[in-house]
Amino acid sequence: MVYGAILAGGTGSRMGAEIPKQFLALQDGRPILIRTLQPFLKCPQIEHILLAVHADWLAYTKRLLHQWAPKSVVVTCFVGGSDRNETMGCILQEMDRLCAAPDSILVTHDGVRPFVTVDLLERSIAAARQYGAAIAAIPAVDTIAQSEDGLTVSGLLDRSKLIQVQTPQTFQFGLLRQMYRRTDAQQLVNMTDAGAICVAQGQPVHLVTGSRLNLKITTPEDLKMAEWIDHIMADDERHLQSGRSGKA
Ligand code: CTP
Repeated sequence: MVYGAILAGGTGSRMGAEIPKQFLALQDGRPILIRTLQPFLKCPQIEHILLAVHADWLAYTKRLLHQWAPKSVVVTCFVGGSDRNETMGCILQEMDRLCAAPDSILVTHDGVRPFVTVDLLERSIAAARQYGAAIAAIPAVDTIAQSEDGLTVSGLLDRSKLIQVQTPQTFQFGLLRQMYRRTDAQQLVNMTDAGAICVAQGQPVHLVTGSRLNLKITTPEDLKMAEWIDHIMADDERHLQSGRSGKA
């Protein structure tokens, strides 16, 4: 069985909005979180979606689901943790509570990456079935430098070997649970995500080609970019629809 897991337990401090960024609206008043959820609902392989949110936003999220999510796919909404890895821990606990089989596939994704596609989800699921762990990534396009003092460049990294890691990050559930059990609380604090935990444990992690459009909305600038991407995608969709219905 394939489970989706959306991490939406953050408060969006870098966005500085009055509400957590995942609840800000893009087109049609649809909140970013709902936009993120929709490809998961459309993905034929995903049968059950876990949605972890901040305690203060649990009731609100349930109301959003009632408004926007069809009843055909099961969505379980619960409270996440105080940082991203704790939220992942809550998702693994929920998988245990649901008695998910160890060979189940768990597609984890940031609640603030609304432009993930069904195609990327499907490629990610296929790779996790084959390799156990698979993360979406894109080649780095900017040169990445190191700076010890934030004022001068102390070193340059070889861009040809650098990639930018995204989500979805997809795993065989039993394997991911084992990786988390082997990682102590202190190590977890320094790990950015489940992919990093697998790498630290020596677990091979397969790369799936992500997309530059699969933006993580972090700052007000990102929100502006997301609004543009959203407009362009809506225009493309309208063109496709009018092509299908024979209109010019
Ligand atoms: N996340 C989570 N639980 C947390 C913290 C983060 O589920 N305790 C989720 C966020 O909701 C987001 C994703 O992890 O979907 C990526 O995190 P980030 O972009 O850093 O979100 P925030 O923590 O909300 O933002 P900030 O760091 O600016 O406060």
